Amino acid sequence: MTDSLLSVDRLAVHFGGRSKLFGAAAPTVKAVNDVSFKIDSQRTFGLVGESGSGKSTVARAILQLVDIHAGSIHLDGTDVTHVQRSAELGFRKRVQAVLQDPFSSLNQVHTTETIVGDPITRHRGVKPGNERRDLVGALLDLVGLGRDYLDRYPYEMSGGQRQRISIARALAVEPDLVIADEATSALDVSIQSQVINLLQDIQRERGVAFLFIAHDLEVVSHMSHEVGVMYLGYLVESGAAEAVYQAPTHPYTEMLVASIPFPNPREQAKRRLLRQSFKTAEPPSPANLPPGCPFENRCPVAMDICREEMPPTSVVHHGGVARCHLHTSGPALGGESVVEFIKSQAKGCVEV
Ligand SMILES: Nc1ncnc2c1ncn2[C@@H]1O[C@H](COP(=O)(O)OP(=O)(O)OP(=O)(O)O)[C@@H](O)[C@H]1O
Ligand code: SF4
Ligand SMILES: [Mg+2]
Repeated sequence: MTDSLLSVDRLAVHFGGRSKLFGAAAPTVKAVNDVSFKIDSQRTFGLVGESGSGKSTVARAILQLVDIHAGSIHLDGTDVTHVQRSAELGFRKRVQAVLQDPFSSLNQVHTTETIVGDPITRHRGVKPGNERRDLVGALLDLVGLGRDYLDRYPYEMSGGQRQRISIARALAVEPDLVIADEATSALDVSIQSQVINLLQDIQRERGVAFLFIAHDLEVVSHMSHEVGVMYLGYLVESGAAEAVYQAPTHPYTEMLVASIPFPNPREQAKRRLLRQSFKTAEPPSPANLPPGCPFENRCPVAMDICREEMPPTSVVHHGGVARCHLHTSGPALGGESVVEFIKSQAKGCVEV
């Protein structure tokens, strides 16, 4: 069997916890816990979850920007968990990032030609000049801006245009994987869908793989082949995007689905009722995680075991995994969708 392009195995990233001189130890923030997923070449893996669930920390761990507490990361079968300085340039050529705020991530004093051209010089050895200008021009064509933008500065552009420049810069080194962390979240909805379409076109044309991170399950499922749903540092469900969206196997995923507006008013009313069955409690702090399931205080179908034991990871109907006791205890759903069970159990949702 061939190796996946990216393989993240049992990743954990914890912050703080070291005692300061003469001071109390800062509490350990368990930002990412036991997270595993794979991305194959030319595929998109979407990571979704509410604010603080650990999505960016996973991205930062892959990009070697935070210390990894446990687990491993492999690129094409090579262990890159702790990339040596000597191998860093090679790693950066293969894995690039596009982030949320194109304004702060682009150097305002440089023109597009320099912003997109510098990585071409650094990683591909093409010196500034006509050949490099041509390569940058071709990338500007690819991202739908055109060569008129070669001599423009970031402050002369709109948010959507700047994000296209960030994408061109990431593609300049011909990477195998691009990590897009909330890359479309700051854009207007219409511009957002243009940029998403652009990423899909680029995947078809260039064969690049994406780790696509966003809050919105609908956007992520539309964009991705596989999705992972994060809650408080845990990957609570992952699998084929369409199947996870249509028939979730974790109550938190179902809560996200029930929150998506639906055009049909009757269906929308049903979803609202279902959504209301989820409790509105504050999630626990990642600095003080409970011994059991982290979703327990919001889950409408929590059982005693959920307060006491961390749920195991089960293989579920869509071929992916879910971390929920419902599959092995109580109703023992054995990997089937949780939707009908939640509807049948949740108070106030009898009509749903
Ligand atoms: N450098 C750090 N030091 C301490 N805690 C951190 C650090 N970076 C992140 N955290 C904490 O780790 C948790 C996960 O944060 P992260 O930024 O990965 O979440 P996220 O899912 O990307 O959220 P958002 O959707 O808001 O971008 C949060 O509780 C956050 O406060
Ligand atoms: S483990 Fe228990 S509390 Fe957690 S999501 Fe499943 S049923 Fe709900
Ligand atoms: Mg983030």
